[in-house]
Amino acid sequence: MTDLKLVSAAELADACAALRRGEVVGLPTETVYGLAGDAGNAEAVRRIFATKGRPADHPLIVHVHDAARIDDWARDVPEIARRLAAAFWPGPLTMILKRAAHVLDVVTGGQDTIGLRVPNHPVALALLQAFGGGLAAPSANRFGHVSPTTAQHVRDEFADAVPVVLDGGPCKVGIESTIVDVSGEMPRILRPGQIGADAIAQVLGVPVTIGAQQASPRVSGSLASHYAPDTPAERVPTERLDTLIHQALGSGETIRVLALRHLPNGVHGLIMPNDPAQYARHLYAALRSLDAEGAERLLIETPPDQPEWLAIHDRIARATVAPSDDDAP
Ligand code: TXA
Ligand code: MG
Repeated sequence: MTDLKLVSAAELADACAALRRGEVVGLPTETVYGLAGDAGNAEAVRRIFATKGRPADHPLIVHVHDAARIDDWARDVPEIARRLAAAFWPGPLTMILKRAAHVLDVVTGGQDTIGLRVPNHPVALALLQAFGGGLAAPSANRFGHVSPTTAQHVRDEFADAVPVVLDGGPCKVGIESTIVDVSGEMPRILRPGQIGADAIAQVLGVPVTIGAQQASPRVSGSLASHYAPDTPAERVPTERLDTLIHQALGSGETIRVLALRHLPNGVHGLIMPNDPAQYARHLYAALRSLDAEGAERLLIETPPDQPEWLAIHDRIARATVAPSDDDAP
């Protein structure tokens, strides 16, 4: 059935059968692991929400096998959506489109739009092909928690509640897809990701706005606190990092530090790659491992203030509280 090295034909067939029974399955994609269920089965979609503990008005992305399926799920598809699909699918781009009439309200949170994506992962594509339909799949984490980038992360989140988790290895992108709303007059990025505004604008030949409109569709990733570890986490500009570390150590507080360049002697933490794509790939695993150490506080050094770091800034902002400025200049 498949020559995938990561997952056996039997595992794939089991996952497909579970989906047909209306169950949810842990699914690797190139961005993060998803919690997948049959997008055409309201019971299955409700099970996704219940398993995640996610409020019902936060819509789900429907994953499809290839761009030819757009018209199965969306209507009045604009030319720019076809161009983006041709340029970026399969890949880490979700498009918001006007939904087709049959699409279930539970999938879209009752909105008139739908999020669609073709994931670029051999296991996800093999499962989509075998299954035939669309798979609704939010990130496979409990609501508000850090997204999973390995199969073990998914097992850590749900244990027996999600018995079938396909192991496709660590996710290569590491942060969630870029979401671009192409249902309105002008394309608009609702959630930044690896595919940046410039790349999208280049394909479309028009500028792309970043940020949700006030009356925009609901994007749960746009809640202020999201993707957060359990340990209180604070983002810290490089120039204040040493001071904060010394204060914490001086007061006997246990801290962990996610740093960019160096860790002072005696400080526990991780040094992250200096390249935004590599940083993204390791961010969630790093947050999870530091979180598991049970420190009192997590300090995250803020990356450079440059456009290629935008999606990282976004995720770090949601994982942390604003910098404390008790001793700010
Ligand atoms: O990379 C990803 O996109 C991963 C993998 C599994 O594909 N999925 C993911 O799903 O991040 P989730 O549910 O954690 O985040 C999807 C975001 C949510 O913030 C949701 O509100 C938004 O997409 N969304 C879905 N449908 C939408 C719609 N019709 N209009 C606006 N936002 C929508
Ligand atoms: Mg999510």
